[in-house]
Amino acid sequence: MKKYLLFFVAVFFFAGVTAQKFDQLAKTPPMGWNTWNKFHCDVSEALIMQAADAMISSGMKDAGYEYIVIDDCWQVSRDENGEIVCDAERFPHGMKYVADYIHSKGLKFGIYSSAGTVTCQRRPGGFGHEYQDARTYARYGVDYLKYDWCGSTTQDAKSSYTNMRNALYTAGRPIVFSICEWGSSKPWEWAGDVGHLWRTTGDISDNWNSMIDIFNRQKDLSRYAGPGKWNDPDMLEVGNGGMTTEEYRTHFSLWCMLASPLMAGNDLQNMTPETKSILLNKEMIAIDQDSLGQQATCYRDNGDYQIWVKTLSNNEKAVCLLNKSDERKSVLVDFSLLASVRSRGRGFGGPPPAAPAGAPGMPGMPGTQGAAAGQRTQGAAGTQRAQGAPGSLGVPVAAPGAPGGMGPGGPGGQRGFTPLTLDNYRVRDVWEHKDLVLKETSMYVDMLPHSVKVYRFVRK
Ligand code: GLA
Repeated sequence: MKKYLLFFVAVFFFAGVTAQKFDQLAKTPPMGWNTWNKFHCDVSEALIMQAADAMISSGMKDAGYEYIVIDDCWQVSRDENGEIVCDAERFPHGMKYVADYIHSKGLKFGIYSSAGTVTCQRRPGGFGHEYQDARTYARYGVDYLKYDWCGSTTQDAKSSYTNMRNALYTAGRPIVFSICEWGSSKPWEWAGDVGHLWRTTGDISDNWNSMIDIFNRQKDLSRYAGPGKWNDPDMLEVGNGGMTTEEYRTHFSLWCMLASPLMAGNDLQNMTPETKSILLNKEMIAIDQDSLGQQATCYRDNGDYQIWVKTLSNNEKAVCLLNKSDERKSVLVDFSLLASVRSRGRGFGGPPPAAPAGAPGMPGMPGTQGAAAGQRTQGAAGTQRAQGAPGSLGVPVAAPGAPGGMGPGGPGGQRGFTPLTLDNYRVRDVWEHKDLVLKETSMYVDMLPHSVKVYRFVRK
C-alpha cells in the first residue's frame, strides 16, 4: 500500500513539475491563415488543400506565413471511446491526411477546439477530454491549437488553459497554444507561461469601427508581449471586402506595430493586387517579426491622431503615424525628434515634453488639432520648420536636452548606442518602399482619412 502511495505521489510530483508550455515556439509572432473570418463553417479538405497551394503560389509562404489553421466546424461528435470524430463528408480522408498534405508543402497545420463542453458552433468541446484530444492532435500532426472559451460556464480560465497546456506537453508533440478566451480574465496577466498567444478582445468584424476599437484596447498591453508570448488582437480581415484599401493597410500596419500574430483570414485563392500588396509587404512584416519582440507603445495621443513607436533590433525603430479621423489631415512631422525617441523610454505614457523656450504654441499637443489643421492646404507635403506652426498635428520640436529628447548628449548617447540622431539613420517609408529625402528635418505629411504612415529608422 505504502509503495503504491509513493508511486502515485511520485507520478503526481513528476507530472506537476515537468508540465509546461513548449518554450521554443513562436519566438516571433505566429503567421498563417485561418478559415474562420471568410469561410466560417464552410470548411473542407478541398478548401484546406487549395489554401495550402495558394499560400505557396501567391508568395505568402515566402513572405513568412506558415500555419494553415482549420477553425470551428471540422468536428461533429465523439465516438463510444470519447474520441473526437471529424466531419466525414467534408474531410473524407480524415485530419491526418490533411496534415500530411500541408506538411508536404513545407507548411504547418493548425486546428481548433474549445475549453468548454461545446465549441462556439456547438460542436463537441474539449472539456474532460483534454489528454485524449492532445494525444489525438499529436497523432494527426497538429502544430498549432486554437483553444476557444465557448461552453465553459463556471470553469476557471487559468486552470482550464493550464490543464490543456499540460495535456499538450504530455502528448509530446510541440504545438503552439493559442488561447482564445477573448480577454475576459485578463490573460495577459497569467498566460505568459500557459500559451504562446492570447486573444485580448472579442471577435473582430470586417469593418473599420470594429478593427479600430480592438486596436484602441491594446494600448496598455505592450509590456506583456515578448518572444513566445503575444497579445492577439484577433485575425486579419484584410481582403474580405468590408474596409477600403486604405483601411486595410492601416489594419495590417497596426497589427504589425503591435507585434501581433498575423493570421490572414481572406480567400487566398482570389486575392486582388491591393490585398496582395498589403499582406505581402515584406518591410511591414519585418517590423512585426523583429527578433526583439517588442510591441509598440503610444508616444503621442491627440485623440484622432496618434504616434506609435516600436523598438526594433539593431537599435532601429518603426514609427507609425495614425489618422483615425474621417478627415484628411496635414501633419507636421519632426523627424529629428522621432529619431531621438525611444519606445518605453522617457516621455512614454507620461505628460508631453515641455515646449522649447520661446516656442509659439505647442504643436501636436492633445486638443490642438482643430481649426488650424483644417485650414492647411491639403496635400501640400512641402518642407517647413516646425517652430512657429501653432495648431499643427505634428510633434513638437524638442530643444536639445529637453525632456523626451534623446539627442547626442542624452541618454541614448551615454549608453553607448548609436546616438539617436537623424544623422545616423535613413528614414524609410514602409508603404512607399523608398527612403525619404528630407530637405529639412521637419516636413508636412498628408494623411488620408483612416490612414497610417509607417517609417523605419534604418541605421546608416
Ligand atoms: C469564437 C472565436 C472566433 C471563432 C469562432 C468559431 O467566436 O472567438 O475566433 O473561432 O468562435 O466558432
